[in-house]
Amino acid sequence: MMNLKGRHLLTLLDFTTEEIQNLIDLAQRLKHEKKEGISHKHLTDKNIVLLFQKDSTRTRCAFEVAGFDLGMGVTYIGPTGSQMGKKESVKDTARVLGHMYDGIEFRGYLQNDVETLAEYSGVPVWNGLTDQYHPTQILADFLTIQEKFGALKDIKFSYFGDARNNMGNSLMIGCAKMGMHFTAVAPKALWPNQELIDICQTIAKETGATLQFTEDAMKGSKDADVIYTDVWVSMGEPKDVWYARIQDLHPYQVNSKVMSNAKAEAIFMHCLPAFHGIDTEMGAQIAHDFGQMFEAVKRGELEVTDAVLESPQSVVFEEAENRLHTIKAVMLATLSDLYV
Ligand code: CP
Ligand code: NVA
Repeated sequence: MMNLKGRHLLTLLDFTTEEIQNLIDLAQRLKHEKKEGISHKHLTDKNIVLLFQKDSTRTRCAFEVAGFDLGMGVTYIGPTGSQMGKKESVKDTARVLGHMYDGIEFRGYLQNDVETLAEYSGVPVWNGLTDQYHPTQILADFLTIQEKFGALKDIKFSYFGDARNNMGNSLMIGCAKMGMHFTAVAPKALWPNQELIDICQTIAKETGATLQFTEDAMKGSKDADVIYTDVWVSMGEPKDVWYARIQDLHPYQVNSKVMSNAKAEAIFMHCLPAFHGIDTEMGAQIAHDFGQMFEAVKRGELEVTDAVLESPQSVVFEEAENRLHTIKAVMLATLSDLYV
């Protein structure tokens, strides 16, 4: 049992294996309570603010609904809704918000900004995605894996795609912390940076995790329990990287061949949003610009095929729901005296 009151969640490096496991188990209990209709308004009289520099569906809605379910007041500030980064520094914003709110969620570009909010606000700060890390997503992913396989330890986890983005970095940290077998399947230029790999290797030695990196999609998917991918182009990346990225990652699409090379009971995961429909703004743009070059783009399929995402092996919408339960656990644990 441990008390996490007052703690920030800036990256999963901030938490021990036991703390991460306890947060996932708390989320499981809160999910069960919600399904049973048991109210858990443990944080009435508290207020939180959600500060978004980038767009969101899941993260925003999960924080809002989790806040309401816990009895809190919630303020949403969108990309154009505050003075921060325009007329006011992050440091001043932190002190203003910290004097009004009990907790702050931040989604934006720089990891340094979420760290500044944590340093100066005096209240718990939760990272809802930066260019570097997306820790609340990993808690939801791991709750989903625990629900499917019973435990996290020794799960064979293959991550396809841009392994240096926020998801690649955060999943590698999470797998190292939880004693899992992580394989990044990507061209070498998109493997996580060596400094982070070294940190994770040190953690892995203590937990029994292994970390592997391969450019071979068949080797990387062989006998995996989980095949995971993310968009090839992340929010905020300039349009001039799109073409090269699509070309570089084209051999790493998660399709039926990849899934059938994994274990028969393997699951497919994606943090979403996924590029598997042409009727998206970005999809239409990519199709317009690059549609002549790749058949997959014409079909509205990049990192994953429609057949895989819609298959019985896909758990992406359970994974999305688990954002709610895990974010609720993080807020409850860091804003109350509850022992998790
Ligand atoms: N997975 C995730 O963070 O989705 P949103 O961008 O919709 O929040
Ligand atoms: N890597 C993606 C994750 C979205 C949840 C992005 O940053 O856009």
